Amino acid sequence: MINQQPSQRQTPYNVRVELGPRSYDIYIEDDCTARACAFVRNDYAGKSIFVIADQAVNSLCADAVVAALKPDFDKVELYSVPSGEASKSVDMYGDILQWLACQGARRDSLIIAIGGGVIGDLAGFIAASYMRGVDFIQIPTTLLAQVDSSVGGKTAINIAAGKNLVGAFYQPKAVFCSSSILKSLPTREMRSGYAEIYKYGLLWDADFMVWLHDNAARLLAHEADAVHYAVQRCCEIKAEIVAQDERESGLRALLNLGHTFAHVLETLCGYDDRLRHGEAVSIGMCLAADLSEKLGFIDSEDALTVSRHLKSLSMPTSYGDIANRPKTSVDEMIALMYRDKKASAQGITFIVLERLGKAACHSNISENMLRDVLERFIENA
Ligand code: GLY
Repeated sequence: MINQQPSQRQTPYNVRVELGPRSYDIYIEDDCTARACAFVRNDYAGKSIFVIADQAVNSLCADAVVAALKPDFDKVELYSVPSGEASKSVDMYGDILQWLACQGARRDSLIIAIGGGVIGDLAGFIAASYMRGVDFIQIPTTLLAQVDSSVGGKTAINIAAGKNLVGAFYQPKAVFCSSSILKSLPTREMRSGYAEIYKYGLLWDADFMVWLHDNAARLLAHEADAVHYAVQRCCEIKAEIVAQDERESGLRALLNLGHTFAHVLETLCGYDDRLRHGEAVSIGMCLAADLSEKLGFIDSEDALTVSRHLKSLSMPTSYGDIANRPKTSVDEMIALMYRDKKASAQGITFIVLERLGKAACHSNISENMLRDVLERFIENA
């Protein structure tokens, strides 16, 4: 894939995810509503349409999509889902399947997911399983969903034993990212999404990382060219990785940079409002950089580059940055790592930085080294 400079790029900033018969396009522009509706009219004429949306974006997006489609379709129905992780539940999953069946949804119906990661994961899993699979498209409305969760076909719901423990790989038919809707997001949500953006630079593209060092503030201030380029570059990188390893048997695991540590922190905080996912990833990437330094891949200046940049954007980088953090111990953190669904019989695989802009998987990390990194992390809090 040619990595064009930001100035050479043109709207809409399409990205193709090449997966043979499951290939699809991601569209990125100011407002994709008209394009998404045209896509639905073109590809699903005569079919019934079911919109599953976060209730927080009804007035910002979902109502407009429904109103635009209604004149052209006999059936366009909207299910509004309460905002928040609690909606990714077995109960909500069952309720929406029941609703689809009662509304007469068929194998050839289309599901439209409108919202952040919760809605994309939930509606995607519903699409994957209702009548053994119906088409769906994603209209992600958060930065995190636009650059990561809406792309690549991971869908899931939570069960009591853990987050995302039930799900499927199921690709959407298209993804439509509007930059204008991001302006409604609280700063904290934008920063949380930014952590996943920086992740792509660190793991795959040093030039993009450097560009982010210079342009992150513009991106967070919603300057359109910066938002469009960052979302497009992340989607390009994710598309390149997913095209080679759709079901995460190797390369795709690189996208979990910082996530082994992040999941431990999220579990410690009970997945509540003390720590958003992107904030946990921000801290997790700093820990991954510390571990990479201990392994001798990067030097202390490189590790500091990562934490300094995130800090400069007021993102959390240490345990002490989490308000009302629970007391923990290295033993507890390590035990939680072994419980992570990404741990295998061979132990925990860590994504480390071989250099800034290039990540790799490592599974033979000594517990002593890990303990050193975690001890420093907790002591400094
Ligand atoms: N969010 C990581 C992945 O989609 O693989």
